[in-house]
Parts: sequence; structure tokens; C-alpha cells
Amino acid sequence: MAKLTIDGKEIEVPDGTSLFDACRDARGEDLPHFCYHPDLSVAGVCRLCQVEVEGMPKLTIACNTGVRDGMVVHTRNERVTRASKQILEMHLINHPVDCPICDQAGECGLQNQYMAHGLYDTKVEKVDKVHKSKAQVIGPHVILDQERCVLCSRCVRFCAEVTGTGEMGIFNRGDRARIGTAPGVELDNDYSLNTVDICPVGALTSRDFRFQKRVWMLKAADSVCPGCATGCNVRIDHEAGRIYRLKPRYNPEVNGRWMCDKGRMTYKAVHDENRLGDPLVGGKVETWDGVAGTLAKLVGEGGFGLVVGSPYQSLEEIHLLKSLGKDAPLSGGLADSGQGTGDDLLQDADQTPNRKGLELLGVAQHDGPALADLIRNAAGSVLILGGDPAADPTVAAALTEKDSVIYVGTHGDKTAGLAKVVLPGCMWAEKAGIFVNRNGRLQEFKQAVARHGNAREDWRILSELMTVRNNPDVPGSLKGVRDELAGSVAADVDLNKLPARGFLPGGEAR
Ligand code: SF4
Ligand code: SF4
Ligand code: FES
Repeated sequence: MAKLTIDGKEIEVPDGTSLFDACRDARGEDLPHFCYHPDLSVAGVCRLCQVEVEGMPKLTIACNTGVRDGMVVHTRNERVTRASKQILEMHLINHPVDCPICDQAGECGLQNQYMAHGLYDTKVEKVDKVHKSKAQVIGPHVILDQERCVLCSRCVRFCAEVTGTGEMGIFNRGDRARIGTAPGVELDNDYSLNTVDICPVGALTSRDFRFQKRVWMLKAADSVCPGCATGCNVRIDHEAGRIYRLKPRYNPEVNGRWMCDKGRMTYKAVHDENRLGDPLVGGKVETWDGVAGTLAKLVGEGGFGLVVGSPYQSLEEIHLLKSLGKDAPLSGGLADSGQGTGDDLLQDADQTPNRKGLELLGVAQHDGPALADLIRNAAGSVLILGGDPAADPTVAAALTEKDSVIYVGTHGDKTAGLAKVVLPGCMWAEKAGIFVNRNGRLQEFKQAVARHGNAREDWRILSELMTVRNNPDVPGSLKGVRDELAGSVAADVDLNKLPARGFLPGGEAR
């Protein structure tokens, strides 16, 4: 351990800690910086994180300095403050200062540093600035504005060290230096939008989010990406019922600070024009009251002959489905649904969010022919919860033979087209729930936006179906479902108070 004094405060940190991190501990906030990033190598190029170490003749950058026992460091004295201000002025010499039309405004490192440490009048007229390329499309997801770049090299290091694709580079020297891709090369890797997140200024912006909404108008909800079994922790940025973007939420046990581009686009399905907003009976729109009579006839009299879940539903919903179908055969849906390609970074080949949840609750899946047989042999109505099993032609053929299929779904998909009754459920961003990721970690997602049309949360729909069946165990709330479910997960877990980083039964997050 090393003992040092920073701004008069004594702290003790492990040997090998960088002075940058030690200063954060002592100050309670970061030093001014652009190029430092906790998950990338040290570049030491922006020179903003200057500190004074007693005994050293010159100021030094904290990000590239290790702590030493007995160090006495100053981060806020007059000499350091003047240096930060001067370096910031150098960064702004050629910057266009076009904050009013820049998408990064409101979450820009340069704006923030200027307000905290700059606050001077510029000595460089706009006509004397070096001009570089503007609004250059450099890949399927990213736009580059070279003039706004502060040459911190974070995007270069991300592509070299994290994805290993190496698309970004800094070309030329001095005030002619510019960021970009080599001729004929695109920033086109599966994680390219992380460069937008780590770019401290508005040089790299998202083609999808650009000019859609000012960031200070957005509200945020913690969630989990439903795009694959990894379950990256995300933040849903939304406003007035519309989702504008997904951002990675730090969880060192799952995704660190990253997420993939495909996962970022999963929100688009929430606003898809094919969403189901009302119950349908025989393809005709009905009210919830109007559909009750048909359900009573289908379910109340003959009961369920088969209930089918899917790995896209939450743990709570699968649990309720099990209760509903306790006298009927139960399937977790198609075993080969949602299969894609994975990689060594985050993406999993299983592109469903909760197959482990089915496993945890002991619900087996079936291949197409086996599920088709179950449907044909069902002695009563067939209840299907999500997953669009009719995407498999053998299942679709079996469903066309049945006149008592009830489908709880979100989109006008193949199964919705074949079901007698369609009940509109909610997508993950419109409800709360728990997914179990590929490592068995239970992670909570929260509701971000209002339900689409007259859709209802799936746990409510299942509870109402339980009422139709005169089932005495009807839960009155999602909390009640979780309380009931907790015992089958682990003895010592409260599913209504999961830790922020998730809960791994038998693991470190206990
Ligand atoms: S584009 Fe952004 S992340 Fe890349 S070097 Fe410039 S400022 Fe840094
Ligand atoms: S790796 Fe999977 S969970 Fe993570 S963002 Fe991508 S699709 Fe979503
Ligand atoms: S953060 Fe230390 S030099 Fe950039």
C-alpha cells in the first residue's frame, strides 16, 4: 500500500494505482480529462489532468503517473488551475464551438470542462481556424465531424484494443492532425456505437439518434437488453412515451461499459407499426370486456389442453404460465428459436433473453415436430405466450387445425394470424420483470414507457386467465408473483429487491 497526501487529505491506495485514480478517491470527482478511460490503455495525450507533485520541478499528468509512498500532490492550486485553463484553451483553438447545433450538447466533456475550468474569451477569430471535414458518414451507425475532435484517441484505442478491428486512426501532425478512417475503410464493426459513447465531444455521433432529441429532455430507466442471452445492462432514454436510444449501463459482471450495435436497435420493435394494440377475436378487433365471453367459453369450459411459453418472456410470466397449466402439458416453445451468431466479446449465439429462466423453472422446450404433436393432441384450448412458434411451418400447420388457440403476443406475426383469440401483451420496455442471463444471473428490467394502445402487462393477462379458470392462487400484483416465485429460485433472495448488478444464485452478488 502507498500512503500519499492529495490536496491536504491523506489517503492509502494499493501499490500500482495510477495517480489519476488516487486523485479521484481523494477529491470525490475526476480530474479534468479527455483521453483517460478506465477500460482503455493510457495515452496521455490531452495533457488536461495536470497535477503538481512536491519535489518534481514540472507539473505532471496524473493518468500516466503511478502513486509512490509519501507523495504530496496538489490538484487545485493556482499553478495547476492555470495550466488546465491554458491547455483547454489550446484544445478550443480550432474547435468550431457550434454547441447550439451539436448533438453532444448537454453531455459534452468539452462544454463541461470549459464551464468548470475555462471561462475565458477566445483569442482566435473564427476565420483563422483550421477547417476539416464535417458530417462525414464513416460507417453504418456513426457520423464524424473532424472539426469537433480533440484528438484524444479514445476511438482509435477502442477499435484497436476492444474490437481489434483497427478502423480509426489519427492522420497528419500538429494542427493539421485529423481523426478518421483510412481510404476505403468504414467504421463497421458490431460494437461501433461505443465509440460515440466514449468520444468526449460531438465528433462522433449516432446516425440513429442524431437530431432526434435534446439530451436534457430525456428521462432514463434501468433495463436489460433483450437482444441475446448475455443480458447487457442498459439505460433506456425516453421521453413522452417514445424511446430514443439505449445506452450501456456499467456492470463489471456482465457487460462492463459496452454493448453491441444490434442490441442498441432492439428498442425499435417497441414502436413497430405491426404492434398489437387491441384484443382480436377471429381477426376482428374487440374490447377487453368483449373478449371475456369468448375466453370464458374457450377456457372456462374445456380448460387448457396445452400451454406454451417462450424464452422471450420474463421469469415471473413463465412462473404464472406454469401455475396456469399445472393440469395440462407445458412447453417452453421452440428449442431452436432465436439462434444466431455469437462472438468472444459480448454477443451470444442464443438471441433470446431468458432461455435460462425456462431452465431455472424446469420448463422444457421442444423442436417443431414435437411441439406440433403436442398441439394436435391437446384436449382443450391451447394457450401460447409470445415467441411466435408458427414461424416454424410444422407448428403453423398444427395450429391451423385448431379452433381454440389463444395467443398473448406483441406483434401481428404468424401465430397472431392463426389464433382464434389474440391478446395484446407488453414489450419489455413497457413492463417490469426479471430475465436470467446465460450465466444464470437474475437481472431486473424496469418499465420505461407506457403500454402500447390497449395492451396489458402479460402477468395481468395471465392472472385474468387464472380467474376465468377459478384458480385460487391469482396474484394481485407483480410483487406478489415475485414473492411466490422466490422460493423456487433460492432460499435467501428477495426478488423485489434484486441487487443493482443482478443476483447469481450461489455467486458473488449475494
Ligand atoms: S473522434 Fe472523439 S474519441 Fe475519437 S479522437 Fe476525436 S475526440 Fe477522441
Ligand atoms: S451483446 Fe446481446 S445483450 Fe448485449 S447489447 Fe448485444 S444483443 Fe444486447
Ligand atoms: S487524461 Fe491525462 S493526459 Fe489526458
